[in-house]
Amino acid sequence: MRIIIIGGRGTVGKRVAERFSRHHEVLTAGRSGGDLRVDISEAGSIAAMFHETKNIDAVICAAGEVRWDIFENLAEDDYLNGIRSKLMGQVNLVRIGQEFITEGGSVTLSSGILADDPVAMTSAAAQVNGALHSFVRAAAPELKRGLRLNVVSAGLVADAAAKYGEFFPGHDPVPMQRVVNGYVRSVEGYGSGEVIRVYQ
Ligand SMILES: NC(=O)c1ccc[n+]([C@@H]2O[C@H](COP(=O)([O-])OP(=O)(O)OC[C@H]3O[C@@H](n4cnc5c(N)ncnc54)[C@H](OP(=O)(O)O)[C@@H]3O)[C@@H](O)[C@H]2O)c1
Repeated sequence: MRIIIIGGRGTVGKRVAERFSRHHEVLTAGRSGGDLRVDISEAGSIAAMFHETKNIDAVICAAGEVRWDIFENLAEDDYLNGIRSKLMGQVNLVRIGQEFITEGGSVTLSSGILADDPVAMTSAAAQVNGALHSFVRAAAPELKRGLRLNVVSAGLVADAAAKYGEFFPGHDPVPMQRVVNGYVRSVEGYGSGEVIRVYQ
């Protein structure tokens, strides 16, 4: 398969890219580096990426930003920025990508444990993750040409534990192998409309 991994140089995406590179052709994408340049918060940037890149069998997104802060500090723009980046960015990958991805191909999005088990300061992040789960379940059955759509919802990943562990009291970081396997299950399996939870 020829696979675009958006965020393929990030904490999660780097590990996912390593795994898929063993068996597939991988193109990493991001705003500041990688094989392709894309900003998923801009629909035009997503369209340009698909116009420039032919024969894509799978798209994985491990990207998207959301503001973390206590509820009383979060302004409307903070919510809207997360919606524009992590939520609509990933929705637009599906909406625009459906015309370009090869028949029987797939899109795999990323949400996170905060949808089900929020911690302090995450009302904006949890909101977006929950919306992604609902979007995937509702949109997947309507995709044409055998396209599949899933979302991987990981807990705090082991490679990010040193940076973010203090914000997740009592959470056990998820081994990277299990996180990566969530993406493998989505891309190489046959399920669609699934929220693939990897919390342990
Ligand atoms: N880390 C965790 O424990 C964890 C757990 C569950 C879920 N997640 C979710 O998994 C995803 C990846 O997390 P991560 O920890 O790997 O993040 P990360 O280390 O910050 O990496 C994110 C990557 O995405 C790219 N990116 C960010 N915004 C983008 C945009 N608008 N358009 C295109 N590329 C963009 C960045 O590259 P550029 O800056 O070059 O664009 C970077 O390579 C996020 O949605 C996160 O919420 C993470």
